[in-house]
Amino acid sequence: MDKKYLFSPGPTMLPPEVLLKMAEPIMHHREPEFEKLFAEIREGLKYLFQTKREVLIFTSSGTGAMEGAVSNILAKGDRALVVRGGKFGERWGEICKAFGIEFVPIDVAWGEAVDPKKIREKLKADASIRAVYTQASETSTGVRHPIKEIAEIVKQYENTVLVVDAITGIGVFDLPMDQWGIDVLVSGSQKALMLPPGLSFVALSDKAWKLVERSNLPKFYFDFKKELKSAQKNQNAFTPAISLFVGLRESLRLIQKEGLEAVFQRHEKLAEATRAAVKALGLELYAPDSPSNALTAVKVPEGIPGGKLKNLFFEKFGITVAGGQDQAKGKIIRIAHLGYYERLDMVMVISALEMLLKEMGHPFELGTGVRAAEAVLME
Ligand SMILES: Cc1ncc(COP(=O)(O)O)c(C=O)c1O
Repeated sequence: MDKKYLFSPGPTMLPPEVLLKMAEPIMHHREPEFEKLFAEIREGLKYLFQTKREVLIFTSSGTGAMEGAVSNILAKGDRALVVRGGKFGERWGEICKAFGIEFVPIDVAWGEAVDPKKIREKLKADASIRAVYTQASETSTGVRHPIKEIAEIVKQYENTVLVVDAITGIGVFDLPMDQWGIDVLVSGSQKALMLPPGLSFVALSDKAWKLVERSNLPKFYFDFKKELKSAQKNQNAFTPAISLFVGLRESLRLIQKEGLEAVFQRHEKLAEATRAAVKALGLELYAPDSPSNALTAVKVPEGIPGGKLKNLFFEKFGITVAGGQDQAKGKIIRIAHLGYYERLDMVMVISALEMLLKEMGHPFELGTGVRAAEAVLME
C-alpha cells in the first residue's frame, strides 16, 4: 500500500477541511465574493500574528516576504545586523548582499541560540545599523532564538527595527508581535498554517512603516506600501493564488476554533514527546539548550549514515523527514511537528525511527522511544 506522510518542516501535512475547500471551483479575485473572503482573512491573520497592524499577503514562498523585509525597510547606505546560526540566517545576509546592503554578521554555532548580549554590543558599537534580522525558529538547526529578549534590546533604539523570520514560529509558539514590540514579522503558508507553499506574510509596526517611507531600494512586486493600499480595500495588488486564499480562510478558522493558546500547548506537547523519545533511544538533540517546538533535530548515532536513515524512512514507511544541510548534512535528521499534527502522529514517526534504528544496528530495546513519548503525551 502506498501511503505517504510528511514529517518535514515544510511543506507539512494538510487538514482535509483545507484540501476540500481548495478543490472548489475558482472564484474571481476582483469580485465581492473574494473581497468578503479577504476581509475575513485579514482579521484571522491579525489574530494569528497577535497584532492590530495589517498583515500583508504575497503570492510567493516565504523568501519573498523576507526579500521585501529588506527592500522596503532599508535605504541605500543603511547597515544591518544579521544573526547567522543556520541556513535561514545566512539567507538574510544573502538578501542584504543582493540589495547592496552592508551587514554585520553575528555568527552563532549551529545548534545554538544567539546570545542577546551580542546584539546589544553590536548595536552600541554601530549607530548606522537600521535593522536587526533574525529567525524566531532556525529550521536548519531546530533552534529557537530568544525573540522577547532581543526585542527588549532593539526597542531602546529609536531608529532601528527588529525583523523576525517566523516562518516556522508563527502558529507554533507565542510571538505576540505588538506586546513584545517585534517590528517586522514574516511568515509563510507551508508550515504551521497548514497550507501548500505559495503564500508569504508580513506585518509591520509603526516604527517599521516609518522606515518604509524613507526606503529607496529597488522594489516592484514586493512593494509594501502598494500592497497595504490594496489590502485595505480587501484586494491584492496583483493576481493572488486564489485557491490558497480559500484554503487560508479555512486554516485560519481551524486555528481560531482551537484557540492560539491551545495551538501553542499542542506544539509544546508534541515537541516534548519527540525530544523525550529520541533521548530515551540514546540519541542526542542537535539543539539541546534552546530547541524549537516546530521540529526536533536529532543527531544520527555514530556509525549510522544520516542520509541513508532519512531515505529509509521514505522507502520503508512512506515518511518524509528532513536531513541536515551543509555542515549538518548526513549528521542529523529533522522531524517536524508543526501544523496539522496530533499525538498519535508522533507515536507513529517514533515507532518508524525505532524500527529503522534497530535494523541499522543501534543498540536499544524496541518500544523504549514510543514508551517515553506516550508518557509525555499522557501527562
Ligand atoms: C525559518 C525559515 N525561513 C525561511 C524559509 C524559506 O521559506 P521558503 O522556502 O518558503 O521561501 C524557511 C523554509 O523552510 C524557513 O523554515
